[in-house]
Amino acid sequence: MSSHEITLTVNGTEQTLTVESRTLLVHALRDELGYTGPNVGCESSMCGACTVEVDGDVVKSCTMLAVQADGAEITTVEGLAEAHDDLHPLQETFNEEHGLQCGYCTPGMIMTAKEFLEETEDPNPDDEEIREAIEGNLCRCTGYQNIVRAVESAAERMYGDEAESATDGGVPAETGGD
Ligand code: FES
Ligand code: FES
Repeated sequence: MSSHEITLTVNGTEQTLTVESRTLLVHALRDELGYTGPNVGCESSMCGACTVEVDGDVVKSCTMLAVQADGAEITTVEGLAEAHDDLHPLQETFNEEHGLQCGYCTPGMIMTAKEFLEETEDPNPDDEEIREAIEGNLCRCTGYQNIVRAVESAAERMYGDEAESATDGGVPAETGGD
């Protein structure tokens, strides 16, 4: 079995590791580097539980060999909170809108929804668009109604009036203190 030394920058931290030729990216992230956000579900590109960002594109990390990601910048769900100092809006709204039950699909669902929202920049995406965007991510708990609500709510938070007022230096009502 041949081994390879590869370098991955995960959530901003460059790390060098040795993997076998056959090691899948999801296993390298979880087992070698300890990023357990991406989950292993089907290992066959069906469920989306393993979704991460590789060089800015959403990828099901069970469909990629770790060696193929050599030199790449990877973001897992753990990196979203770090990038925002606090929780990412999608992490907040999945919590608030009960967008998770067992939580197994949640990291992948959030990564996919994040790419969708960043591409549309629409504060009011409709249900159909959201369902289409997340169709590659399966929720075995079938919590789709709340997941869609969580994505809608995050869209408003990221691109709606509240976001604009924060950008303009205004203070969003609910964080205005007492
Ligand atoms: Fe990767 Fe299911 S584990 S798509
Ligand atoms: Fe359980 Fe989606 S919350 S699989």
